Amino acid sequence: MYNGGKIIAGLVIFLGLVTFPIYYSVGKANPHPSPSLDTPAINQMKVKHCVESRSFMRANHMRLLRGWMQTVLSGKGCVYVSSTGEKYDMSWDTCWNCHSSKKQFCDRCHQYMAVDLPCWKCHSEPNT
Ligand code: HEC
Ligand code: HEC
Ligand code: HEC
Repeated sequence: MYNGGKIIAGLVIFLGLVTFPIYYSVGKANPHPSPSLDTPAINQMKVKHCVESRSFMRANHMRLLRGWMQTVLSGKGCVYVSSTGEKYDMSWDTCWNCHSSKKQFCDRCHQYMAVDLPCWKCHSEPNT
């Protein structure tokens, strides 16, 4: 006779056993990344904010930077106007002004996610 409940319970246990070592080793080997916002420029800000909202930056900072490069290379200007009307130079230096420690900020996420930036072939990689 067909017993759906038992089959599903069996599957759940099976999946648990199969994936357990993965969850286990992820938790052990990689503590959660904690990009640090503790820099002089950010500590001085009254309202701490990035070029765009935090959630936007999390998801889109790579597209933003690539877009800046395209705009600069195509000669269409070098000033970015944010959604709140603030102006920023389309430059790496804009990021480094606030996120002055690449190691404590960018690298913490990138190393955790094993992201390798191809940018440093041409751009100078800050050693901070
Ligand atoms: C093949 C070489 C090359 C690579 C690789 C490269 N760039 Fe560029 N990038 C350039 C050149 C050339 C310019 C124009 C330089 C200028 O006018 O200042 C530029 C300009 C920029 C600018 C604006 C001006 C500045 O220098 O701050 C940004 C931002 C930028 N690139 C981001 C990136 C990002 C992000 C990556 C990696 C995803 C990347 N680039 C990879 C060659 C490269
Ligand atoms: C004016 C200072 C300033 C500039 C310029 C700036 N940031 Fe930020 N950034 C911040 C602050 C402050 C936060 C935290 C924002 C919050 O809590 O809302 C942040 C958050 C972020 C986050 C999200 C981090 C997280 O843990 O959620 C990313 C990614 C990021 N910035 C990347 C960049 C990049 C890339 C650039 C350059 C294009 C840049 N930022 C320019 C101040 C700045
Ligand atoms: C909150 C975590 C986090 C922080 C902080 C962060 N990044 Fe990233 N970054 C990522 C992730 C995740 C990816 C890969 C996303 C993907 O592949 O779609 C990425 C990808 C990128 C890329 C694209 C690489 C490529 O191959 O095109 C660039 C450029 C980049 N980050 C620049 C920066 C810079 C510069 C900083 C520091 C100012 C920074 N990121 C801080 C999480 C972060």
